[in-house]
Amino acid sequence: MEYELLIQQMRALLAGVEDQVACLANASSLLNAALPNINWVGFYLAKDGALWLGPFQGAPACVRIGAGQGVCGAAFAADQTFRVGDVHSFPGHIACDPASRSELVIPLHDAQGAPVAVLDIDSPVYGRFSEADEAGLSAIAKEIERAVWGNGACM
Ligand code: SME
Repeated sequence: MEYELLIQQMRALLAGVEDQVACLANASSLLNAALPNINWVGFYLAKDGALWLGPFQGAPACVRIGAGQGVCGAAFAADQTFRVGDVHSFPGHIACDPASRSELVIPLHDAQGAPVAVLDIDSPVYGRFSEADEAGLSAIAKEIERAVWGNGACM
């Protein structure tokens, strides 16, 4: 997977877009088009102590994830990327789509470094996300962070 090109495409896609939802919607669409073997990709946004469904591509999903719940809630609470090869072995995994087998959740931060959202990517294949995928998608996440919550345009 050529992440360097995808990073450039993401940067170009979000440049000059002065709306957060528009940026996150297009970001999820680009990731959905670019990543093979995924069945869901999108954002959960922190509000009132929970994570709320944001722009995404895939089947209808859980609307609200309570603090610490599921892979998304655990990654957000720990402020750490969670790469789960088999979601069925993850205690408390929330099965929004029963087709999901593996998952990558990357916390996203505001300009002060506080976690404000997660990028959640699900796959119908066990062990879909390698270390290289995690590194590449973390770089993409930084690009999204900068555009949407940093000094980018999507404010
Ligand atoms: N699987 C996630 C829930 C969100 S959806 O899969 C879209 C989790 O356990 O955090």
